[in-house]
Amino acid sequence: PKRGEDKLRSPICCIMGHVDTGKTKLLDCIRGTNVQEGEAGGITQQIGATYFPAVNIRERTRELKADAKLRVPGLLVIDTPGHESFTNLRSRGSGLCDIAILVVDIMHGLERQTIESLNLLKMRNTEFIVALNKVDRLSGWKTCKNKPIFKAMKQQSKDVQMEFNWRLTQIITQLKEQGLNTELYYKNKEMGETYNIVPTSAISGEGIPDLLLLLVKWTEKTLVEKLMFTNEVQCTVLEVKAIEGQGTTIDVVLVNGVLHEGDQIVVCGTQGPIVTTIRALLTPHPMKELRIKGSYLHHKELKAAQGVKINAQGLDHAVAGTGLYVVGPDDDVEDIKEATMQD
Ligand code: GTP
Ligand code: MG
Ligand code: NA
Repeated sequence: PKRGEDKLRSPICCIMGHVDTGKTKLLDCIRGTNVQEGEAGGITQQIGATYFPAVNIRERTRELKADAKLRVPGLLVIDTPGHESFTNLRSRGSGLCDIAILVVDIMHGLERQTIESLNLLKMRNTEFIVALNKVDRLSGWKTCKNKPIFKAMKQQSKDVQMEFNWRLTQIITQLKEQGLNTELYYKNKEMGETYNIVPTSAISGEGIPDLLLLLVKWTEKTLVEKLMFTNEVQCTVLEVKAIEGQGTTIDVVLVNGVLHEGDQIVVCGTQGPIVTTIRALLTPHPMKELRIKGSYLHHKELKAAQGVKINAQGLDHAVAGTGLYVVGPDDDVEDIKEATMQD
């Protein structure tokens, strides 16, 4: 790496939107996995996390012939549920991210949780890209597998293009009613003022290169301010899970800093603060989902950002959604215990 680049952490991108707009399917399309079909009722009920190494993103954007050089190690993508009963998880996800993808179903336009998600992003001033998903459902759509959207659009009949433009215009109007200026990304001349819309299909992959390239571009634009690596650990507990043969583990998102095997940590518990020691630091393989059972990679240390499974004693009563703190050599455990319970 060039000088200074090791000082940047991977950005965290949260994927949000109404139920069944295709959030998980979009990630499946990028990962080459089939997480969505394994979900109970096809409904996401947990926050997920997947790490995309820079090399994979570069590969996937190659056809755009743009300079998708990532100056960060990769991208951590957080999947959230769109079902109305998981507002707390959408809020937790949006609280962790540096950028977001707001997924809208082109056949449905803005829906209730689209607007809820939008309000969460506005509240935190988070930049986002609108993925206008399911373009393959426009009647007569001609599949152009994994093609950049501009090329795919040129292959479509006049009727498909007309239906697309009509639906796009309606959705731009709906977003305007929410106080947002948006534009098809390749027509957008005021990036920053006007939010980008990328048409996609999670089934046939049109527009996926464009979506990834835009994420990269945004990253470069905001690198310095937001993505400076610090040694101070910033970490949130996503899920508390019993794993056969491992006892209770916690899935966390490491937002900044480094975690080590053997670190003394403090997490919030229903019966008071839990002080314990990291016995194992585990991640899924790159491009695999943390919330899906699979084989894990063991690490001596991990740098942010990452989705991590932590194995330690005494985690049975840990509380999801709270912070994880590392006890440093100069820290007073009692102070940290107190801070932990304030989450
Ligand atoms: P929740 O997490 O439960 O909110 O849903 P989600 O937004 O993750 O949507 P999901 O990935 O579960 O997809 C919902 C349904 O839409 C599934 O049946 C998908 O196969 C289908 N779907 C998703 N994306 C597309 C797409 O681009 N085109 C078409 N035709 N179907 C899609
Ligand atoms: Mg989902
Ligand atoms: Na779903």
